[in-house]
Amino acid sequence: MCGIVGYTGINSVGDILLRGLKRLEYRGYDSAGVAIVENDGIYLQKTKGRIRDLDEDEFPYGNVGIGHTRWATHGKPCDENSHPFYDCAGEFAVVHNGIIDNFVTIKEELTKKGHEFTSETDSEVIAHLIEDNYDDDLVATVQKVVTKLKGSYAICVLQKNSHRILIARNQSPLVIGVGVDENLVASDVPALLDYTNEVKYLEDGDVAEICSNEVRIWDSLGNAVERETVEIDWDLEDAEKGGYEHYMLKEIYEQPKAIHDSLLGRLFEFNDVDFKRYDTSFIRIISCGTSYHAALVGKYIIEEIAKIPCTVELASEYRYSSPSDLLPFTILISQSGETADTIVAAKEAKLRGCKTLAITNVINSSITREVNEVIYTQAGPEIGVAATKTFTTQLIVLYLIALELGLNNNKLLREDAQEYRSELRRLPRYVKVLLDRSEQIRKVCKKLVEADDIFFVGRNINYPVALEGALKLKEIAYIHSAGYPAGELKHGPFALLTESTPVVAILVKDHTFEKMLGNIGEIAARGSPIIAVGDHDKELKKLSDELITIPSVPPMFSPILVNVVLQLLAYYTAYELDCSIDKPRNLAKSVTVE
Ligand code: AGP
Repeated sequence: MCGIVGYTGINSVGDILLRGLKRLEYRGYDSAGVAIVENDGIYLQKTKGRIRDLDEDEFPYGNVGIGHTRWATHGKPCDENSHPFYDCAGEFAVVHNGIIDNFVTIKEELTKKGHEFTSETDSEVIAHLIEDNYDDDLVATVQKVVTKLKGSYAICVLQKNSHRILIARNQSPLVIGVGVDENLVASDVPALLDYTNEVKYLEDGDVAEICSNEVRIWDSLGNAVERETVEIDWDLEDAEKGGYEHYMLKEIYEQPKAIHDSLLGRLFEFNDVDFKRYDTSFIRIISCGTSYHAALVGKYIIEEIAKIPCTVELASEYRYSSPSDLLPFTILISQSGETADTIVAAKEAKLRGCKTLAITNVINSSITREVNEVIYTQAGPEIGVAATKTFTTQLIVLYLIALELGLNNNKLLREDAQEYRSELRRLPRYVKVLLDRSEQIRKVCKKLVEADDIFFVGRNINYPVALEGALKLKEIAYIHSAGYPAGELKHGPFALLTESTPVVAILVKDHTFEKMLGNIGEIAARGSPIIAVGDHDKELKKLSDELITIPSVPPMFSPILVNVVLQLLAYYTAYELDCSIDKPRNLAKSVTVE
């Protein structure tokens, strides 16, 4: 899970590579490097650390080059393991995203033939394989080399004395940016938007040759193919911070608009998918991380509104589960659409005979090619590693799906659907109310910054929200936190409660409220500070050290509002602790390895 950018054209390439890489830094940021074709060779500079650690003044003038920002998979972050890689003779330079599963075997074979390797990475074998197979035709060589690779890859290859870039993809994203007298390639669209908004998405197995005024593409069988040119309507400002100190904060504040956009044109007529074509009597949702928490909330939504049984599985576990005769309608949720675990799960579900639907935020992302149906959330680009507005819009889509299914199977009355729609329409306003209270929430963080351990508890539909609150705090504030169903604390975790273990408790006035109050009383008796989030209540106020209230909504919609509070709690806690909020250590925005 790294970032790739490449350019060939009439302009000086160094600055273009750096600018593109900076826009991709969220994909990985433990090392960076560039390769530029110069006079009679290829100039290489690479370094452990951030893109800013590259010395641009040292770059030679050139019009064709490739760059890479890395998130380590094989081999620790260090200069040697950074991309690009040369072959032995320094004739080729290669950058790679993904994982080559059979690299050990390839490396052994090439070592026997006399190839010397300089890194511990899987990626370096690609440069040497190209050298080993080169027969004066680089296109044919790359086509041959990719047949020897097992695993996932997005590859860019430079050759000395050449102005073209050879690229190939399999299960790792790669997009061509089409310009005038210049063409680009990148692992993700934001790196291209400074230069063009016209892009071509490669399919798995494609190999392409990119010259300044021509792009030629071949499919996995070697047939010349055309790939559609798509116009991207995200402008660059969308992908930038817009005055906020961090992308995460900007994205939290964008949620009223994101909800509105995700509802637009869908509230009264949902045409994205014709569910009547499918058997939806049993539903399974599969996803990872924050998207998994959205799936868990989705289970409650679908079971309550549409009265359809629903199970939820982690994508990384699903493929190892035993297939059964039951073929649930399977929903895959992935904001990026590039999460390897979820893509593999989509393939597995298809293999087992299930009909599949992807909910994703990224148009034409890899997962969209693996499923029967796609619904796009309309959150706009999310750059901060911590998922915020994409979680919220995933929930919005799940509400819309539940309404549609409930009406289709006659388990939902039209007047009740109408009530739900009205509530959905009010949500942007309610989120705005909470955002306007961010200073109050910020003050509460003082109670969290000192803690080493924090519990998040909730029941029923807000139990997964507790999980999500804990994940967000771990991820960006580096504080150990655990989400629990409130009733479970007494079965073990109670042993950890002390006066310095804050508990963030979610209480909304649903059928669990009385029980939750009892749980809070038990926690208070152990001396743990309680930060309650939810509906206003006198008794709750008495029991808790802080109470952050949300606008009054039916409990079914409370996850969206409670979660905004938890996002802000995590953000301001991380801010107080001076953490790297948009790029937390050891993490990357899309996890394209299993
Ligand atoms: C959330 O803040 C995380 N960055 C992470 O858990 C993320 O949700 C997970 O990796 C799944 O990503 P996806 O939605 O792009 O598939």
